[in-house]
Amino acid sequence: MNNIVENINVENFIKMDFSREIYKLKKEKNCVILSHFYQTADIQNIADFVGDSLQLSQIAADTQADIILFCGVNFMAETAKVLSPDKKVLLPEPNAGCSLADSCNANDLKEFLKNYPDHTVVSYVNTSVEVKAMTDICCTSSNAVKIIESLPKDEKIVFLPDRNLGSYIKSITKRENMIVWDGACHVHEEFSVEKIIELKKNYPNAKVLAHPECKKTVLILADKIGSTAALLEFSKKDDCKEFIVATESGILHQMQLASPQKTFIPAPPIDSTCGCNDCKYMKMITLEKVYNTLKNEAPEVIIDADLIEKAKKSILRMLEMSK
Ligand code: 13P
Ligand code: SF4
Repeated sequence: MNNIVENINVENFIKMDFSREIYKLKKEKNCVILSHFYQTADIQNIADFVGDSLQLSQIAADTQADIILFCGVNFMAETAKVLSPDKKVLLPEPNAGCSLADSCNANDLKEFLKNYPDHTVVSYVNTSVEVKAMTDICCTSSNAVKIIESLPKDEKIVFLPDRNLGSYIKSITKRENMIVWDGACHVHEEFSVEKIIELKKNYPNAKVLAHPECKKTVLILADKIGSTAALLEFSKKDDCKEFIVATESGILHQMQLASPQKTFIPAPPIDSTCGCNDCKYMKMITLEKVYNTLKNEAPEVIIDADLIEKAKKSILRMLEMSK
């Protein structure tokens, strides 16, 4: 028993040490650490900014830092590099991918778009840089509706890669001419409608917060649908004291910090043993990897200059419209 307690203390000490070293190194190297809301609490706690994908790309575009260390997944770090090509962008785990981005491969998209030559391609930011290079305008879950509504009513649109976000936007904007790619995220597809209804019996006053990447059957149960930042904001302002949260579990950290008196319950996945509330890619980032990455200034995100130029237009168009 004593040994176990001692081990826990050592582990805590090492973690504290990493945080302190990271803090020193980031000052020395003029580095900004960006963390998505889905990172673990210890990563969020050492970051300079914690935000949703739109907020983080806005910061990446404007930062004066020499180094951007991205605690998130590959497409987010790539977006930062496209927006700040002269800066060194570091991603502590190069295998931190995204099942949704992977569901739309650039070669498959090229073939697919041959069927829709007169369509405007609107891509969710959860896509590879190669897909962004084939995109007319990017969007995130914060601004997708606004971006689609900015296009003429009769515009022919291909929306990709998320079928759930796509069908949600289609239902709001009433776009008839919108083709939606058939991709999905392994975390958001897994929430169980039956288990959320069951949970509501134990928490009858709880409000359901859902990310638009969830299936339509889950979104129907939601009191608030929005991006991670929008859900966080709602949980702060709403009078309700209990929330069932249908998005990746990392967001609960900021919700609980902002409203310690409220209760946040992660929405249960269909298979309770799968650990699906956690994005396995987001959770690949650890304090130790952040420390080593900052110390060695590697792994670095490298993208061909031509590809950067091609992908940049669609992201800049989105940022311009989000002001
Ligand atoms: P946000 O745009 O809400 O940050 O979401 C990104 C994401 O990966 C959702 O799964
Ligand atoms: Fe991608 Fe889903 Fe993870 Fe978001 S939660 S980064 S969409 S795999």
